[in-house]
Amino acid sequence: MTQPASDSSCIALRGDMLSFRGDPFVDGLEACLHYQQDALVLLRDGRIDAVGPATELQPQLPAGTPVEHYPHALITAGFVDTHVHYPQLPILGARGLPLLDWLERYTFPAEQAYADLDHTRAMARLYLTENLRNGITSAAVFCTVHPQSVDALFEIAQGLDMRLVAGKVLMDRHAPPALCDTAQSGYDDSAALIARWHGQGRLGYAITPRFAPSSTPEQLEAAGTLWREHPDCFVQSHLSENLAEIAWVRELFPDARDYLDVYDRFGLLGPRAIYAHGIHLCEREYGRCHDSDTALAHCPTSNLFLGSGLFDLTAAKRAERPVRVGLGTDLGAGTSFSMLRTMDEAGKVAQLRDAPLSPAHALYLATRGGAHALHLDDRIGSIAPGMEADLAVLDLRATPLMAARMQHVDSLDEALAVLMTLGDDRVVRATWIAGVKRHDRDHGEPVTRRIL
Ligand code: GUN
Ligand code: FE
Repeated sequence: MTQPASDSSCIALRGDMLSFRGDPFVDGLEACLHYQQDALVLLRDGRIDAVGPATELQPQLPAGTPVEHYPHALITAGFVDTHVHYPQLPILGARGLPLLDWLERYTFPAEQAYADLDHTRAMARLYLTENLRNGITSAAVFCTVHPQSVDALFEIAQGLDMRLVAGKVLMDRHAPPALCDTAQSGYDDSAALIARWHGQGRLGYAITPRFAPSSTPEQLEAAGTLWREHPDCFVQSHLSENLAEIAWVRELFPDARDYLDVYDRFGLLGPRAIYAHGIHLCEREYGRCHDSDTALAHCPTSNLFLGSGLFDLTAAKRAERPVRVGLGTDLGAGTSFSMLRTMDEAGKVAQLRDAPLSPAHALYLATRGGAHALHLDDRIGSIAPGMEADLAVLDLRATPLMAARMQHVDSLDEALAVLMTLGDDRVVRATWIAGVKRHDRDHGEPVTRRIL
């Protein structure tokens, strides 16, 4: 049942626990993997208070502390989706066309519907409900050009006490007039949204130029100015997703060295800047991402659906200049809400790149890697004392097939492989946000309805 959201509440979760310290791509898996069978995770005032073997910790719990038992499950940090468009839910699974055709044919028409506040609120509610059902506790979210698309999302996220990053899309050209702002109005609307939302509770604002082709140099300049004025905000956009897009950027910005350089020239690279895709990057661009501490969101289901290409994780994580990388669903070009499905597709993309991705590395990308990409890894993405208590409980026997398959598993690595191969939202038994259970699969409907 749902835990009362009292500030001083203490509650413990008991079960097998898996978390990461550091970056396994850089420091090696052995140094980073923290796996504890029959662990106790004590939550207090929205944070993780203690983690350790249940047999040691349970006798020390304050009297009356409730303990939730999760047999044959893995307690992990909540998933972090580093790139998603909530307004695109109504076009999920629309035909997979090349990016620029897909934008024109499906995306821009769908985003115009967000002039309607009822539709906006309904989609924001659906989006956050699905996040909870999928164990996603944080995300970096594109709204539409309409400021109310940010208000609607943040209003609900604030009620859930969710650590969410979002922003109003900036675009002042190469889109239908109904979706265009101007350099000035985009700046003004974004500044007002920053004042209203950034730093309220766990919310963070992202300055969100859609991608270089849909912003004039004046608008990119204004976005850079805004970030300089509010340096603790985030920046999010798209980068090097599709070859036709890249050729177009070269035409539109002939003075730039490459695609990344367009954003660089306007002061849009740095910590808390995250760019989706980055599939077709040259060595200079990886190096510049590393040097500027700019992150990439790898969105495999989207890249396969739109035929954009195969992200080169090995190149991105090269030891001499590792780039921060998280996983993104990129709905609605992405095809699944599930970070398990996204991990699985990342594994297949890696295979096609001749560089297999271990299941543990995939889980890292979906949790702490995403937090690291957003420069939030001091607060979320792992299970350790002092971290915010955002957790997902993953049922290893969620379906009859999984239960049968798990009987033949002889290592943690293989269990994770089965989890990400066969798993989806059915696996997520519970989702905890800031120490409060916000989704309970087996008592799900009433909980979700009450909150949202
Ligand atoms: N590039 C510019 N806009 C978009 C978008 O909405 N989705 C994706 N996948 N790429 C983009
Ligand atoms: Fe996207």
